[in-house]
Order: sequence, then structure tokens, then C-alpha cells
Amino acid sequence: MIKTDYKEINETLKAIVKDVPYTMTNLANASALLNEKLEGINWVGFYTIKDDQLVLGPFQGKVACTMIKFGRGVCGTSVAKDSTLVVPNVHEFDGHIACDSASNSEIVIPIHRKGRVLGVLDIDSPMLDRFSEEDKKGLEEFVRILETVL
Ligand code: SME
Repeated sequence: MIKTDYKEINETLKAIVKDVPYTMTNLANASALLNEKLEGINWVGFYTIKDDQLVLGPFQGKVACTMIKFGRGVCGTSVAKDSTLVVPNVHEFDGHIACDSASNSEIVIPIHRKGRVLGVLDIDSPMLDRFSEEDKKGLEEFVRILETVL
């Protein structure tokens, strides 16, 4: 299991977003921070809701699908359920959308503003079962920090 220092990552995020009121800027730096600090991932980024669908936002990784309907794929399902989804094997997830064929596991965490879902943080890994309960906790905390500036 990969150990990640979420305390350090989340303290760094707080410092990076402090006094920055621009959503795209914060999401761009947040994706760069996770890409730098997380081992064993091949894609990390954001989808935000526009025109009743998820639209690709700032990310690090290969070119990805641009629009995802609610209820579709792991991202759209996470939004529809308003809950974090940890998928140990994406090939066993009905309706998974493969943007990078190297991806084998995935975590998607909904992001809120004023109590409503505004988008998701999506992370893919080429490893099976990459994301543990500890990753889920650390990344949910990461999203809570981001929400304070969105
Ligand atoms: N796999 C996602 C699509 C987005 S890419 O992973 C970047 C899904 O099934 O929603």
C-alpha cells in the first residue's frame, strides 16, 4: 500500500489557496499539487457542472473526455449519488468511461458550494486497488479545504 502524507499536502493546499479568490487558478494549482505528491497515479483533475453536465476543468495527465452526463461513468455516478466513489477495478464498474487505457482504479469525490455539488475531483491510477480508506479520508479533507475558497 502506498503511504501518502496528507497532512503535508493539505497544509500546502491551505497555503496555496489562501487569499486567492479565483476558482480556475485554485483548481489548476490543486491538480498540480496532487500530481506532484501522489505516487502511482496517471490522471488527476476536476470536472465542474455547466449546462447540466460535467465539463472538463484543470487537470494533469493525458487528454480526457470533455463532457460527462449526470449518472454516467464514475464521475457522473458520484455526482448523482453525491458521494465519494472508490473503484478498485474500473473494468468491473458498469459504465466506466475510459479516458486513458492505462487506468485500472479510480477515486471520485464530489465538491460542494453552498450545499450543492458543483463538480468532482477525479483521480485515476494504473494500479488495481490504489486508493485506500486513508486516501479517501485525506482526499476528502483536501476537497473540504478547496471548498472554502470556491
Ligand atoms: N473514468 C471517468 C472519466 C473521466 S477520466 O477518468 C479522466 C468516469 O468513468 O467517469
